[in-house]
Amino acid sequence: MSVSGSGLDPAALQAMANAMFSALPGAEPALAQAPAAPRGPINLASPLPPGGIPVAGHNNPLPVATTLPMTPPMRTTQPGAAELAAPPSFITPRVLPTQAQTPDLHGLQSTVLPALPKGGSGFAGVPEAFAALIPGAAPTPNLSDAAVPSAVQPPSNPYYFLGEASSTSGVPAAPPLKLDGLSDRFGLSTPTRVPATPLATPSAPSSPSSASAPSFYFADLGAAQPAPTPKVAPGRGIFDVATIRRDFPILSTKVNGGKPLVWLDNAATTQKPQSVIDRIAYFYAHENSNIHRAAHELAARATDAYEAARKKVARFIGASTPDEIIFVRGTTEAINLVAQSWGKQNIGEGDEIVISHLEHHANIVPWQMLAAEKGAVLRVIPVDNTGQVRLDEYQKLLNHRTRIVSVTQVSNALGTVVPVKEIIDLAHRAGAKVLIDGAQSVSHMKVDVQALDADFFVFSGHKVFGPTGIGVVYGKKEILEHTPPYQGGGNMIQDVTFEKTVYHGPPARFEAGTGNIADAVGLGAAIDYVERIGIENIARAEHDLLEYGTDLLCRIPGLCMIGTAAHKTSVMSFVLDGFTTNEVGQALSEEGIAVRTGHHCAQPILRRFGLEFTVRPSLAFYNTFEELDLLADTVRRLAQTRRRG
Ligand code: ALA
Repeated sequence: MSVSGSGLDPAALQAMANAMFSALPGAEPALAQAPAAPRGPINLASPLPPGGIPVAGHNNPLPVATTLPMTPPMRTTQPGAAELAAPPSFITPRVLPTQAQTPDLHGLQSTVLPALPKGGSGFAGVPEAFAALIPGAAPTPNLSDAAVPSAVQPPSNPYYFLGEASSTSGVPAAPPLKLDGLSDRFGLSTPTRVPATPLATPSAPSSPSSASAPSFYFADLGAAQPAPTPKVAPGRGIFDVATIRRDFPILSTKVNGGKPLVWLDNAATTQKPQSVIDRIAYFYAHENSNIHRAAHELAARATDAYEAARKKVARFIGASTPDEIIFVRGTTEAINLVAQSWGKQNIGEGDEIVISHLEHHANIVPWQMLAAEKGAVLRVIPVDNTGQVRLDEYQKLLNHRTRIVSVTQVSNALGTVVPVKEIIDLAHRAGAKVLIDGAQSVSHMKVDVQALDADFFVFSGHKVFGPTGIGVVYGKKEILEHTPPYQGGGNMIQDVTFEKTVYHGPPARFEAGTGNIADAVGLGAAIDYVERIGIENIARAEHDLLEYGTDLLCRIPGLCMIGTAAHKTSVMSFVLDGFTTNEVGQALSEEGIAVRTGHHCAQPILRRFGLEFTVRPSLAFYNTFEELDLLADTVRRLAQTRRRG
């Protein structure tokens, strides 16, 4: 049987998908090869369709792409397109904010760290009434992210945004990265020593002019490096980190034949405190029932627990009412919900959707799909060479056709903290709504959706010490009240006849079917835990860790830090001269250190820097300076093997 008349056999597709996703680290994905014994006809010879289909590797075009259903044509503009002499004819220029209206960038909330008491705070685990009842179980870390050599040719695909752009786009293409000569390629002066980390300057502004003064962390490849002189002495910290770590059972796990686990893959997922594990177990032991649907005692307990979690989420992100909180599976579903409900209702032909070059695929693809369906235009805010969005170019992208701006608050690949307050204010002046992707921010900084004036804010529970499979859409009440449902089914209706259905108001209208009740409750427990510690304390501790780790890594000969914005959190993405990212990841794994290597589901921003992959250590507040020492020592030893050889 073919799929949608495409002639593509579902079993063959399944086999190829299995082969691709089970490829060992370092192995070429099997998708790059001819599929084994497909049952249906697969056209291997035709050229790739323009744009719509991702490739398994640039040297390995996806052979089946031509027979997949095509994404309808879509108009897309390039980052930096505003630099072109003549704007596309369908864009009507609008009055941009005057100089006097330009926001004060010194007021970036997320980067101003409060003064905090020093010394061990003695935060113990977070007991709840039930916490002692049930011992928890620990999951297994995933270290299997594959990486392949990073020097690849940018594709010549008209739908890629930058780095792959044709010379007529007005945007200089970033060539494949070679560490020596990198500075020339990005218009930088080659440093002979590691520059002082800007992370120590908490209120340094990020302004459009920062684009003209980029700074890269990278070592002088030739000169002998001085011994590391950490900016933060090991042992210093605002937490009693040993006590904190005892709250997370998995952090005492041994891996690779007895090595203590060093979890530096927090941008992929965070570990769970015992209180979260206990809370989920307690739910299933004492409260489990479907919600909102019965008169019995357990239905009441489950409903109370679920709605209590909604209240905690609302308080945590500063929503005005729990009715503004919709539970979904995660950030990806959250963005799809907004695109398919609000987006379908409000975005039409010729309308414009603005995203940034930093976005995770989850904040690109749903908008591409909507744009393709509606004939809308996707526009992309470019970044400067540090990996910060260019507000000057962003302003030029806004016009009366802009319907929504959807940007991340923190880049998952680079760690850039994006000035979302300024982005929101400018979008609102243009009459556009704004969605903020908080997947990488909520665990690292205080979020207040009302202070930001975000129209939508989305995040995943598992990135904030909660369970997987639960996430959140925040939407302003007045917007949600006028937004149609995402999915239809039980739980979201007031009344159904064969002629007509009357929907509930928000949030139930957007929660069709039985949701992930237990994990919503677990997310509530995670929020309790974070609030006991204090998100500002977490931000401060991670700031010190990031500054320390960045400084150590930048002293390693041949290491190039990718993403050097003045405002960063958690992420230290890098490449190492002479080694694939997979080789680095393997060497770290052998020491028990878990990092993600690969494209981090953010291919466009890595390609902006001429890369396909990076090594990405990412921090949480339970990490230690000693763990960062081990990280840097391991990378340095690896680098030395190549230099000696
Ligand atoms: N979005 C997750 C990451 O950045 C999976 O690794």
